[in-house]
Amino acid sequence: MDRSELMNLLNQMTIEEKTAQLMQLATPFYKGAKEAGEITGPLEELDINEDHVRNSGSVLGASGAENIRNIQKTYLAESRLGIPLLFMSDIVHGYKTIFPVPLAIGCSWDMQLAEESARIAAREAAVSGIHVTFAPMVDLVRDPRWGRVMESSGEDPHLNSEFARAFVKGFQGDDLGSDLERVAACVKHFAAYGAVEAGRDYNYVDLSERELRETYLPAYKAALDEGCEMVMTAFNTVDGIPASGNKRLMKELLRDEWGFNGVVISDWGAIKELIPHGVAEDEREAAYKSIMAGVDIEMMTTTYVHHLSSLVRDGVVSEEIIDEAVLRILELKHKLGLFENPFRGADPTLEKEVVLCENHRLTARKLAQKSSVLLKNENVLPLQKSQRVSLIGPFAESDDLLGPWSWLGSGEDAILLKEGLLSKISPNQLQIAKGCGVESGTKEELAYAIEAAKNSDVLLLALGERSDMSGEAGCRADIRLPQVQLELIARLKELNKPIVVVLFNGRPLDLHGIIEEADAVLEAWYPGTEGGAAIADLLYGDANPSGRLSMSFPYSVGQVPVYYNHFNTGRPKGAPDAQVRYVSQYLDIPNEPLFPFGYGLSYASFSYHNASLSTTKMTEELEVRVTVKNTGVEGEEVVQLYVRDIAGDVVRPMKELKDFKKILLRRGEEKEVSFTLSEEQLRYHHSDLSFESDPGAFVAYVGSNSRDVIELPFQLVK
Ligand code: GLC
Repeated sequence: MDRSELMNLLNQMTIEEKTAQLMQLATPFYKGAKEAGEITGPLEELDINEDHVRNSGSVLGASGAENIRNIQKTYLAESRLGIPLLFMSDIVHGYKTIFPVPLAIGCSWDMQLAEESARIAAREAAVSGIHVTFAPMVDLVRDPRWGRVMESSGEDPHLNSEFARAFVKGFQGDDLGSDLERVAACVKHFAAYGAVEAGRDYNYVDLSERELRETYLPAYKAALDEGCEMVMTAFNTVDGIPASGNKRLMKELLRDEWGFNGVVISDWGAIKELIPHGVAEDEREAAYKSIMAGVDIEMMTTTYVHHLSSLVRDGVVSEEIIDEAVLRILELKHKLGLFENPFRGADPTLEKEVVLCENHRLTARKLAQKSSVLLKNENVLPLQKSQRVSLIGPFAESDDLLGPWSWLGSGEDAILLKEGLLSKISPNQLQIAKGCGVESGTKEELAYAIEAAKNSDVLLLALGERSDMSGEAGCRADIRLPQVQLELIARLKELNKPIVVVLFNGRPLDLHGIIEEADAVLEAWYPGTEGGAAIADLLYGDANPSGRLSMSFPYSVGQVPVYYNHFNTGRPKGAPDAQVRYVSQYLDIPNEPLFPFGYGLSYASFSYHNASLSTTKMTEELEVRVTVKNTGVEGEEVVQLYVRDIAGDVVRPMKELKDFKKILLRRGEEKEVSFTLSEEQLRYHHSDLSFESDPGAFVAYVGSNSRDVIELPFQLVK
């Protein structure tokens, strides 16, 4: 079917069929559906009839090859024009083989493995009948109170952009039409959802257009430049207008300026939410504002099917606007080959062979190894296989390892931490005691754990947050571990035995009560289906930790938002001539985070030498070189390159990540690492929104994280 045939099909559609094509419903509304599917928002009375369903355009949250084939077959049998359904679901970091949560993958700094994880997720989803995934989520995050930081790759525009490209490539491949084991991607949430005020979900976002473009938009743009097929609107306001009704953002910037002509879908209910937001008096006005903003599909509310026809009949909205939206959806269905093959990749036989296969699990294990971050190690890790270990804590035997967006992933398929350890040591070397729950415990549990611990050489505490303590609507104002866990470690500390803490959590935590008490801390995040195996590999040195934080760990929640690419202010603390009091500081805590962006330890021992620039007077580009030596065991180091623009048209961050290389060094090996820094990489948005670089003083920084760096000053001359 070519474009003229699509236009011909469009011209046969009634206005009711067109507006229904713009509606997306969850699985329960469809005949032939074998299961309820994924419900990720408030379900309410939608006041729709058989015709609405019969003419709807897409389905949210279905899965299973047989199930989706049934729905499609039943639907097409009753469809006047035979336009197939699109099936869309949240395959955020895995379908049934669940990879670490995206914030963990963000700490891997491994684009190849990130892309591979998305390819595998797409493969399992596509053979199970899904056409589109609502991923990647590329919202830049700086506030760990927000529950959805676990879904992002972190706080840096450059790193987020690299991951956005990698995920889109993995999901979509090179040719969606012929490669039936890929799915279309949908970058979300456009835009700046991660900047919600006070870290409270769905809250107000207010940024200058310059800050929006400079910091928050690059990763969405990177996804679209990689060919991402869809965009999902964010729940929040942008410059006072909710994204789903924001014509400036969704049409003038996204479509007119960036040239995006793909499908835009609202987030769950976000169009109707224009009413409580206070920019629409009723559903008719909400429908009007959204369709005029270029939002094509309305997810799980029905303002479009209830009001667009009358808006057209009343001459308020031209039918061409509706036609443009419908045509974009038909074109996506065409690109996916659905008119020729409405079942696309749905293959029950292949599904059994592919989903959760050994190769997929091996990749999940490898990515979980690379996504974990060693935060502290006072010579207690790696563990020795001769040691007697007490495994204590709410996550000792927990299968809550998949994170809040793992949907079809099952804890039953997960390798638990206990199981991972038993693949390394014999049962008589391992004592297991819960000690307490995530948020509550009993005196008996605690007493038993203390008793068990007395017979061990090392105490391994598996602590953290339940996965529903982060994720959507999972915001916390107090980001410490629950008190009962802090009491557990304090009591065990009295035994004067080495304590290793493994953290399972969806956000950077306030580690008061943990970081001092523990001799070693491994941040495992939610490591996914192979989590227990990967963590055991790391604890026993069968894999060497190589994760580096992609989001700062605050010293305390009072610092939030705290991020590495902050600004100097006019009264920087610690400046040579700084006053004692009248500087930008807290009286009670440090300004610096507990652990900075880019930070992570290794069992190896890396040192940096001979850092140099090819010139200190840059015109087009310069080379940055540094030699990295490893005097420890074999391991991977993430060599990071930052730049500071000393004086700009507007204030400029103290550092900005410009490049990085993850390198493997064997014991005793050293490598020269070089980066090419170009004039383009020094460009930024000026006060007039022009995007250019300025001649003047700069400093390049190269090192192992955003704090421990070697300074290399240079001038940009024009
Ligand atoms: C949810 C989420 C969004 C998800 C959508 C469909 O509310 O905000 O990320 O893709 O609904 O499940």
